[in-house]
Amino acid sequence: MAEEAVISLRGVTKSFGSHTVLQDISFDIPKGRITAIMGPSGTGKSVMLKNIIGLLTPEAGEIWVEGEQIVGMRDRDLYRIRRKMGVLFQDGALFGSMNIYDNIAFPLREHTKKSERDIRDKVMANAELVGLLDHLKKLPGEVSGGMKKRAGLARAMVMDPDIILFDEPDSGLDPVRVAYLDELVKNAQRETGSTFFIISHNIPSMMRTAEYMGVLFRSELVKFASKEDMRESKNSIIRQFLAGKSRGPIGMDEMASDVDIRGEDWDEDEDEHEHEQTEVMTV
Ligand SMILES: Nc1ncnc2c1ncn2[C@@H]1O[C@H](COP(=O)(O)OP(=O)(O)OP(=O)(O)O)[C@@H](O)[C@H]1O
Ligand SMILES: [Mg+2]
Repeated sequence: MAEEAVISLRGVTKSFGSHTVLQDISFDIPKGRITAIMGPSGTGKSVMLKNIIGLLTPEAGEIWVEGEQIVGMRDRDLYRIRRKMGVLFQDGALFGSMNIYDNIAFPLREHTKKSERDIRDKVMANAELVGLLDHLKKLPGEVSGGMKKRAGLARAMVMDPDIILFDEPDSGLDPVRVAYLDELVKNAQRETGSTFFIISHNIPSMMRTAEYMGVLFRSELVKFASKEDMRESKNSIIRQFLAGKSRGPIGMDEMASDVDIRGEDWDEDEDEHEHEQTEVMTV
């Protein structure tokens, strides 16, 4: 890849007991871009994110973050690395007893010695970016799901991290709010120049937002490439996944059937719904 990598995974393998969740995963997350990892449920996407932030440790492989190898790193160094990253967990993970303002301010109060006046400037700037200026006094329980996501995004960005990681930023949102969040993510990335790494099920949403993408399937990374190369992929797993079709190598229980990970064992000529693919992919 011609791009400069900000995070690199090399041969990352992670198991729980005899269950191998990630098998020999290698790819580079390019700096200052939006990258997505997609894949069916249970394929190890969240586990991958937890390895990248050092909450889980792989048995094998290396994870490089801005030139430092984090697997086996001392806690103190890991903590320093983590401060480069803002993380938006699936549910926004806001503190229920704090209003939106205090939630966004929390990382600044916790990790910096900034004055309340400086904190206010940062909170207001980030709240404006996500359109929450009118809701700062409300508790998380008093705002909609979409607002909670936006507050989580503002909190993830408030420390000006080089890298922002999202686990399913759009889960539980209606399609209009998802489209709005996509615009917000793109604008926020443009404004901050940070690297955005998004884990998602939502293929049309990622086709709108991400510049690079990878598909995880049965513990392996089937392909990682630019969006354009993904669109043109001949791999039947990638084609089925991007088109969101029910027919293809990925079954409802994707772990049950015996599928060739290279995606070469599915006869596409059998598929009479080929036109669906272009429709979905041009969203
Ligand atoms: N701490 C853990 N201990 C044991 N098994 C785990 C642990 N965390 C995850 N797993 C297992 O690892 C597999 C992958 O889980 P993961 O949460 O990464 O899936 P996912 O791809 O994020 O799925 P979804 O799209 O549904 O969020 C699952 O089979 C899960 O049960
Ligand atoms: Mg997950």
